[in-house]
Amino acid sequence: MDGKLIHIAINGEQYEFLVSTRKINGAIPPEETLATTLRERLNLTGTKIACGEGACGACTVLLNNRAVSSCITLTVECDGKDVVTIEGLQDPVTGELDPIQQAFIDYYAFQCGFCTPGIIMAAKGLFIKNPHPDRKEVEDALSGNMCRCISQYHALDAIMAVSEKLTNEGGIKA
Ligand code: FES
Ligand code: FES
Repeated sequence: MDGKLIHIAINGEQYEFLVSTRKINGAIPPEETLATTLRERLNLTGTKIACGEGACGACTVLLNNRAVSSCITLTVECDGKDVVTIEGLQDPVTGELDPIQQAFIDYYAFQCGFCTPGIIMAAKGLFIKNPHPDRKEVEDALSGNMCRCISQYHALDAIMAVSEKLTNEGGIKA
C-alpha cells in the first residue's frame, strides 16, 4: 500500500488516516495541516484559521495537553497523539461547559467570537500546566492570541475568575 496509516485521538475518539503523496481518495497529503484536517475532514470548525502562519492563535488546539497552532502543525506529526479542540471541552454526557467557556459567557469576553476558541484553548493549556496562574502568567500564555475586537481585557478577567475559583477547588481536569 502506498502511504502510511496514522492514528490520532481527537476529542476522545480514535481516528485513522492514510497519509499519501498520491491522490488516493480520502488520503491526507503529507503537507496537510492539523487545522485543515480538523475543519475540512472532521467538520470541527470551531478551530479557526486566520493568519495561517502561526502568528495569531486563532487555530489553537491542545496536542498532548499543550497549546499549539494547528495551522503550522502537520497532521502526520500528530500520529499517536491526543488532540483536543474547542468542541471537546464540553462534557459529552451532561453537556456542561468547561469552566473557561462558562466564564467567557459570564464576563462577556468576546464580540465577534472569531478569536475566542483559540484563546480558550490557550487558557486550557495554561490551566493544565498551572492551575493557579496569576495575571502576568495568563497574559504571557495568551501573548500569541490576537483579538481584533479588543476583547482581551474581558478575556483576561474571565480567565482570572477561573483561576481564583480553581484555587478554592483544587485545579482543573486535564
Ligand atoms: S491561524 Fe494559526 S496562528 Fe493564525
Ligand atoms: S472577539 Fe472578535 S476577534 Fe476577538
